[in-house]
This record gives sequence, structure tokens and C-alpha cells, in this order.
Amino acid sequence: MVEFLNNKQGKVVNIREVAFATTVNILGNICFSEDFVGLEGDEKESRGLKRALYRLMKLGTTPNVADFYPIFEGLDPQGLKKKTSESMNEAFSVWEHVIKERRVKRESQKGSDLDERDFLDTMLRCGFSDLQINQLTVELFSGATHSTSSTIEWALAELIKNKDAMFTLQNELDKEIGSTTCIKESQVSQLPYLHACVKETLRLHPPAPLLHPEAILEGSKIMNYNVPKNSQLIINVWGMGRDPSLWEDPVSFKPQRFCDSNVDFKGQDFKFLPFGVGRRMCPAYPYAIKQIHLMLASLVRNFDWFLPNNMEDLSKLDMTENFGVILQRKKPLMVIPKGKC
Ligand code: HEM
Repeated sequence: MVEFLNNKQGKVVNIREVAFATTVNILGNICFSEDFVGLEGDEKESRGLKRALYRLMKLGTTPNVADFYPIFEGLDPQGLKKKTSESMNEAFSVWEHVIKERRVKRESQKGSDLDERDFLDTMLRCGFSDLQINQLTVELFSGATHSTSSTIEWALAELIKNKDAMFTLQNELDKEIGSTTCIKESQVSQLPYLHACVKETLRLHPPAPLLHPEAILEGSKIMNYNVPKNSQLIINVWGMGRDPSLWEDPVSFKPQRFCDSNVDFKGQDFKFLPFGVGRRMCPAYPYAIKQIHLMLASLVRNFDWFLPNNMEDLSKLDMTENFGVILQRKKPLMVIPKGKC
């Protein structure tokens, strides 16, 4: 990512595309030891993976009439099952050859000690079928990519708009990281202001604003409301993040509020739940957070950021949200990097 942006100095880049491709490729290497997407955001180069992941995310969050009227289940009235299966196949066609080649390789090395270099090797050792491998990896890719890249995009936009916060973060990075361009995971724990910036971004712009609907297995009383058995509960974490009875000056981006408190996203502080809570909370939040810290620190440590057309009045930076599948910016953040070193 840093190398790519170094080559783009002085040019306008779509940071959402760059962050998306980076997160796809990090996961692609963990699972299959492969980069699947180019950082330019070219759809052709991604062999349909970008399109398939977007569709899957959209399909997964579309209300299904059959969930409310189970009599329709077999009929698939909106064609959601069919479309999901098509997109799953589209994703499968991207890594099918890797699975095939690896099966052949493992077969030829049978009897000797087999290296396990990625998640695919582990799944093959455990005897997973192609279908199982695809279902698991598609779930990981669709959970991981838009959520992480949207957080990076919002964080950078907020930092560009809030110069004091950017200045404080740059100072922290200069002090703790020094002149190295490649930031290590071990260095990230020494960056409390970076952690605070990411928390503040997730408070104002949680990628999953309504979490996943919860099923109420037993009737309960929540605050003063009777919630009957079998109802669906939708938790508006976006609204909670902006509730003035929970947060002071809630719509302002003030990372400092997290430096002065122990509030965390691990599901213990009920006013701040960007990763959900309880048994179904995001299983990957430690991984997601490490990745966001590393990527954001690398963007801020290595580059100064400018808006196109010499836009100096930062209040004009459009921060409108697209309250859709996930809480992305309505307009992608277009920025110009200028290398620091
Ligand atoms: C900023 C990044 C992320 C955010 C804010 C986020 C948020 C969430 C939320 C809110 C849920 C539903 C929890 C609930 O309703 O209580 C969830 C589920 C899930 N997330 Fe994440 N997530 C992120 C990154 C990731 C990454 C990087 C991965 C995979 C590597 C991932 C994989 C999953 C999976 C598989 C589930 C479904 C778990 C289940 O059904 O039990 N997420 N995530």
C-alpha cells in the first residue's frame, strides 16, 4: 500500500479503493497466499471478486420475506438464495485454481511432512470439501473487507478535517516510530492516540450501524418496554454513538475523550458496541483492530494528505453518510498523498 501510494504522489487517489484492495490482499495471503486485487481498483483485474463481495454483502442485509412468512421459504420469492449462490460461485471461480493446485501438490507429497503455510493448508489437512472452503472464506472476505476499508476511509477523512487531531497523531508517530517507514505490529501498542482515533471513528461511523438483528428467545423487559418472545431486536449503535445523554459533544470528532477513559469496544461498555456484543459479536475484532491500526498509522506516518483542487476550506469536505448496506461515505474520499521521507 505504501509503495503504491509513493508512486502516486501528487496524484488524486481514491483511498477507499486502495484500502479495500489492501484488506482483500492481506486476507488473500492469510487464506491462500495470494493477492487477488490490484490497488488501482480495476474491476477486471479483480476477476469479479470485488463485485461478488459487494453483492454478497448487499444480499446478506436485504430483508427476506421468507424470514417473516416461513411458508414462502422453498419459493425464494425475491430470488435471494439464487443470487447468493451465483455470487458465491463467482467468488469461488477466483480461488478455485489455487485450491485445485494445492490439492494436487499435497497429494504428490503424501507421506512426507507437509508444510502449513496458510489457512488453505489447514482446511485441506482437516479434510474440508471445496464447498466448505468456499463458504468459510467467502464469509471471512465479506465480513472483513468493506468494514475495514470503510473505517480507514472515515478515519483519514476525519483526521484531514480535524487538523489538531492529525497534528497530535503525527507527533505521536514521529516520537514513537521515528524514521522507519514500515511500522511493526509490536510498535502499535505504544500509540495511545492512534487507538483513540480509531475508537472515535468507530463511535461516529460504525460500519454496521444496526448490528445483526437479534432473536429474542424469551420475553423480557428492556428499560420500560416489554419485548415479547420471538421478536427481532435491532440495535442502533450509530444512534447510541451520537446520543448526547451518553457522550459529551457527540457529533464532534474528539479522540481525546478515549484517552481520558477506559471505554473499549470489547462488549463490556454498552454505550460503545461497533463490533456487537455477546456470543455473536464480531469474532475477528482483534484482527480487524490490528489491521486498522497498522494501515492508518502507515498512511499518516508516511504521507501528508491534501484535498484536490487546492481545497483549503475543510468545512467543505463532504462527510455525508450513505446509510445503506454498511455505513460508507456517500462520496469516496479523493485525496492527494505527498511523501514525508
Ligand atoms: C472495522 C471492522 C469490523 C467491524 C466494525 C465489524 C463488525 C461486526 C459486527 C457488528 C458483527 C455482528 C455482531 C452482532 O450483531 O452482534 C460482525 C460479525 C462478523 N464479523 Fe466483523 N467486523 C469487522 C471486521 C471483521 C473482519 C476483519 C472479519 C474477518 C476477518 C470479520 C468477520 C466477521 C464474521 C465472520 C462475523 C459473523 C459472526 C457470526 O455470525 O457469529 N469482521 N462484525
